[in-house]
Amino acid sequence: MLAVGINSASAVEVGTALLVVALPENPTLSGIAGLDTATQGALSRSIDMKDFRGARDETLHLTGLAKGPRRLLLVGMGPIADRRASLRRAATLAARNAHRLGVGEMVWYSDQLSPEEIEAVTIGLIAGAWEYADLKSPPPEAERRKPLEKATILATNTDDSRRGLSNGQAIGSGHSLARRLAMMPGNVCTPDYLAETASDIAKRYGMEIDILGRKELEAEKMGSFLAVAQGTPQEPRLITLQYKGSKPNAKPIVFVGKGLCFDSGGISIKPAQGMEFMKFDMCGAAGVLGTFEALGQLKPEANVVGIIGATTNMPSGTAMNPGDVVKAQNGKSIEIINTDAEGRLVLADCLSYAKRFNPGVVLDAATLTGACVIALGHTASGIFSSDDTLIGEVLAAGKRAGEPGWPLPLWDEYKDLIKSDVADIKNSGGRPAGAVTAAMFLKEFAEGYSWAHLDIAGTAYSETDLVTIPKGPTGVPTGTFIEFVRGRVP
Ligand code: BES
Ligand code: MN
Ligand code: ZN
Repeated sequence: MLAVGINSASAVEVGTALLVVALPENPTLSGIAGLDTATQGALSRSIDMKDFRGARDETLHLTGLAKGPRRLLLVGMGPIADRRASLRRAATLAARNAHRLGVGEMVWYSDQLSPEEIEAVTIGLIAGAWEYADLKSPPPEAERRKPLEKATILATNTDDSRRGLSNGQAIGSGHSLARRLAMMPGNVCTPDYLAETASDIAKRYGMEIDILGRKELEAEKMGSFLAVAQGTPQEPRLITLQYKGSKPNAKPIVFVGKGLCFDSGGISIKPAQGMEFMKFDMCGAAGVLGTFEALGQLKPEANVVGIIGATTNMPSGTAMNPGDVVKAQNGKSIEIINTDAEGRLVLADCLSYAKRFNPGVVLDAATLTGACVIALGHTASGIFSSDDTLIGEVLAAGKRAGEPGWPLPLWDEYKDLIKSDVADIKNSGGRPAGAVTAAMFLKEFAEGYSWAHLDIAGTAYSETDLVTIPKGPTGVPTGTFIEFVRGRVP
């Protein structure tokens, strides 16, 4: 991960391979007059000639400067509605550019950074430098570029600034871990690998960890989770992590993550086109692990439990079949209409299991339905809860994290769509309101506590290259989970 530091030097005197200057829309020379002089007017000329207007996502790379820094990268922040969000996005873009340039190191300058803004810049820089290249052979010597390894933020070096930096580093490592796990192929990031990663987090930060396998799931009577896992010879894993930062009697926040290391659809098999993206069907689980990585460093005053249901959904001679009826841990019988609606089957038992931790609140995140992508696209996660106050809390957390969500209904009227002829409930309500019926299904198992569900199918990864994020995982829902915890700290 990118190493980020603070330096109280001025933009004029700091020595660097690349000086990044973030500027708002229609920039003036305020704050950069000294730098303009040092570069013999390179900045004012760029602004006057409208080569740089400070628009959102705009960049201007000035090289070969005779005086001052060797290279300058101007980055636009656009019209500032939320300065933290603008800074984070500009920082991501800057680090992405610096990484591509192969300069190895960069310095970030923007006017007047509060500790919260230093945090935002740090998160952005780390996100922009993120790359998953573990499985690629190194390019030939001649084509090799220095990866971006170090970034320095110009700011007053106070305790408050350093706190902003270290919080940003903590959240950045959470995001980076979640994205790495998500990007790893299904044959590498297996349920066992997720369990090992959780154990590693537990060991490094002194957290409690519990890992169950097929035998234990049978003893727990988790017939719903096991129905999915019966199609694969791989050991399913129910992983529980516990972070205890508050009084023992303080009710924990419980996060539940869908951890399908690959979802082929099972007997109701998916079309081949794009099936490779179903390695991302564990982004909920990755978000839970990323959150715990961050919690270990942030050490907030809260008790937090993470539960991950990890397996793969495969067609095989032992796989579940459409028409099968299974019994979940809470005693409810489920008719399996479509084996591709497997996430809800795994989560059903995880949600029942959550009850034993006496939760203050339970949030689950899952790449649950294609229907949610149809409803909200790739812009917002679907947020479901019977508790409007909790919806507001989740939306606010998502907004702070730059991971927007939007509410969808969870009304009893929709329950008719998942009534079964032979069992208590069926696992698919067909095409109408597909994201809602999936959430309604989960609701049957989220009993005895306050609960919200995040459908992140459209937001957890991108199938195309975006301006700030390369094709692949976005880190959602890591930031939302972390901000949710922070929002509840007294
Ligand atoms: N993992 C998928 C949902 C998904 C689809 C995630 C697209 C990301 C992108 C989930 O297990 C699934 O297959 N859901 C089905 C449910 C249907 C069979 C009721 C779907 O959305 O088609
Ligand atoms: Mn599926
Ligand atoms: Zn799935």
